[in-house]
Amino acid sequence: MGLKLISLFLLVSLLILTILFGADQALASDKKPHVSHRNRTALAAAGGGKAVIMKGRKQESGCNLFQGRWVFDASYPLYDTSTCPFIDGQFDCLKFGRPDKQFLKYSWQPDSCTVPRFDGEAFLKRWRGKRVMFVGDSLSLNMWESLGCMIHASVPNTKTTFLKRSPLSITFEEYDVTLYLYRTPYLVDISKESVGRVLNLGTIEDGADAWKDMDILIFNSWHWWVHRGAQSQGWDFIRNGSSLIRDMDRLDAFNIGLTTWAQWVDKNVNTSQTRVFFQGISPSHYTGSEWHEPRKNCEGQMQPLTGSTYPGGSLPAQNIVSRVLSSMKTHVYLLDITTLSQLRKDAHPSAYGVDKGMDCSHWCLPGLPDTWNQLLYAALSM
Ligand SMILES: *[C@@H]1O[C@H](CO)[C@@H](O)[C@H](O)[C@H]1NC(C)=O
Ligand SMILES: *[C@@H]1O[C@H](CO)[C@@H](O)[C@H](O)[C@H]1NC(C)=O
Ligand SMILES: *[C@@H]1O[C@H](CO)[C@@H](O)[C@H](O)[C@H]1NC(C)=O
Repeated sequence: MGLKLISLFLLVSLLILTILFGADQALASDKKPHVSHRNRTALAAAGGGKAVIMKGRKQESGCNLFQGRWVFDASYPLYDTSTCPFIDGQFDCLKFGRPDKQFLKYSWQPDSCTVPRFDGEAFLKRWRGKRVMFVGDSLSLNMWESLGCMIHASVPNTKTTFLKRSPLSITFEEYDVTLYLYRTPYLVDISKESVGRVLNLGTIEDGADAWKDMDILIFNSWHWWVHRGAQSQGWDFIRNGSSLIRDMDRLDAFNIGLTTWAQWVDKNVNTSQTRVFFQGISPSHYTGSEWHEPRKNCEGQMQPLTGSTYPGGSLPAQNIVSRVLSSMKTHVYLLDITTLSQLRKDAHPSAYGVDKGMDCSHWCLPGLPDTWNQLLYAALSM
């Protein structure tokens, strides 16, 4: 009798567990975004966000913005580049002949919360009188242009000033908000010396003054560390400590350079004045074997990968970024966009950029960087 009761109890517990997990999975595989669920979780995510500020690098429990999947969303894209004054030919895929448009129609759906809808006017009001700077390579340019276009689409009639000097800047005059783009692909310095151009792994002097006194800083560096050949790498020697060398393992070099950057931030940034982000490693799609299409690259790709993991796995540079960030005393928020971007083999310019090469590194606009900015916006509103 007692045994039967226990079995019954176990059976019922098992049943409850099955129902709970089953429901979770059903939600996860729901192809259409479910509006009320998304709305509820968006609010929950925003409410639980205090923990993010306190803990800095930790996601609050239950909401990892960066783990999820892509869903079809007819309300996208967020803007039309033909009316965006800041767009560059290299990202303006539709203008340069990209025939398919499905890639514009996906939104990122985290597993356990939702990404708040971007509101450019709210952004301008919230950050009135403030300065935002993207620092890094052309992936920073990609994200900076996207943010400019996203905000502009919300307030199309507001006066803007676009300065094409270094750093590039877009000012929304009425709100006194400026978005800067400071180009420095390695973050650390390159100096011209008698031997040639030297990549100094241990110094950040160029530009560092320009990074000070910003209200939001979004750093990024990686792609150039793997460039090879004097022309494309932009330097002839590396200075590591006191030694001048011809070359070294590029991941080691990235690690040392990023550590120098981390020390700069720890020494110079006051986080009660400045929010600091690291724009995670942006992946490229030149190697189709990573997603089981050997001999292919991003060319002709019209759909994202389904699911939430990339068959090609993570990138070694990601480990370096997370290790360096976790060694810092400053709270740097990692925009952990690698996996969600790896799923978007369809989102590159391929042959539809102004220079007609095969570009599987940058991203079309409108497109993926808009999602990066929505996640930045979500992180800022937490
Ligand atoms: C949630 O729903 C309310 C009322 O329907 C709406 O005003 C708000 O914009 C929604 N929020 C999100 C994040 O969708
Ligand atoms: C770079 O410098 C570090 C610290 O001085 C040293 O441990 C490392 O071996 C050096 N690497 C190269 C490739 O010179
Ligand atoms: C950081 O900024 C806050 C607010 O402006 C200020 O009170 C504080 O003294 C600053 N800390 C340092 C170390 O400069």
